[in-house]
Amino acid sequence: MIVRSKGPLRGELTVPGDKSISHRSIMFGALADGMTEVTNFLTGADCLSTISCFRQMGIEVQQNGSSVKVFGKGIHGLKAPEQILYAGNSGTTVRLMSGILAGQAFSSSITGDTSIQKRPMKRIMTPLSMMQADISSVYENGCAPLSIHGKSLKAIDYKSPVASAQVKSCVLLAGLYADDITSVTEPVVSRNHSELMLRYFGADVNTKGTTASICPDPPLTGQKICVPGDISSAAYFIAAALLVPGSEVLLKNVGINPTRDGLLRVCRAMGGDITYVNENHSGAEPCADILVRSSSLQGVVIEGDIIPTLIDELPVLAVLGACADGTTVIRDAAELKVKESDRIAVMTENLKRIGCDVTATDDGMIIQGGKALHGASIDTKKDHRIAMSFAVAALACDGEMELLDGDCVNISYPGFYQDLERLSR
Ligand code: S3P
Repeated sequence: MIVRSKGPLRGELTVPGDKSISHRSIMFGALADGMTEVTNFLTGADCLSTISCFRQMGIEVQQNGSSVKVFGKGIHGLKAPEQILYAGNSGTTVRLMSGILAGQAFSSSITGDTSIQKRPMKRIMTPLSMMQADISSVYENGCAPLSIHGKSLKAIDYKSPVASAQVKSCVLLAGLYADDITSVTEPVVSRNHSELMLRYFGADVNTKGTTASICPDPPLTGQKICVPGDISSAAYFIAAALLVPGSEVLLKNVGINPTRDGLLRVCRAMGGDITYVNENHSGAEPCADILVRSSSLQGVVIEGDIIPTLIDELPVLAVLGACADGTTVIRDAAELKVKESDRIAVMTENLKRIGCDVTATDDGMIIQGGKALHGASIDTKKDHRIAMSFAVAALACDGEMELLDGDCVNISYPGFYQDLERLSR
């Protein structure tokens, strides 16, 4: 894929539905009694993987574009899959499903693509084993494929060493099948979509500070869910509009859950002109239209408790740092190394290729902004967020940007390049 800089971005855009919320709507819909109707479902490859896993376990899912109906059978209604479950590139699918599978009355295995087979799964195997689940890594390397022999589970109070919504959600979902109340305490609160949506379906979920807890065996009832636009997808257009002089973009109906809005807070601290136009709610999730105007940006330090609220946006924030005046420092973000690619290594390597002065650190990077940037050939490592970040960088570069394996954007944003093209005219 080739991306070239163009004129200002102008107009309105509705970005696709939130990836995290779309996954959960299928999972919790499958575990609920009766039909769940989802609108604005994200049809990216990751969420389609979740649908196909549940179909393999006997759940009828009717999908018509972004409208989906899930015919749930209750928390004990899944049937044993005949084949290994395949999660593609989706960490959310493997980790959340493992919590569900651990409590079933059947055995199963789950795996994914080559990226998934390198991502750490001990972080879920450890708490699930404490719950007396029978889960193991087939090659004993702590990664997928995972083999899970379902059984009834023991409740735990888990102190997670990482702020990870996937770990938290995995344990809470296993808690549906436990003998008492299960709780998870994180070092810093991660995205809370599971807590909000499980409660919406009727589960008894409580949160206090950095702890979330769930009561076992709740009656879950099918719901109507309208998925808000994905702030992680909106992020690329927010960044692009800030960077390209003369831009003004209205992003419609974007999720602004405070556990996800760190990008907006950091962009404002950098001097970004960002306003909420029409704040409302979609179910339990806050959302708004976001108006972005081009702005001159200053470097910032991004660290501490804000990190989990913008973890997926750090690649595009690094691009903003490269274009801002002064130094941008990213710290406390070692989790970047275990995403779809090692995002510290892949971002620094590619930022250097476009002429940026950047140094990788153990838990982030240091970016000297304001240098003249030029197009280059970018090795995306098939990581959707790397591809979209450098498509945005292209708008601030001389010359053209070549994105190798640029079609990996389909993981979370089918139509991304078309939307960028349309707004840039
Ligand atoms: C997600 C949680 C985050 C995020 C991922 C989606 C989720 O991962 O990076 O894209 O839907 O729960 P971690 O839990 O590993 O931080």
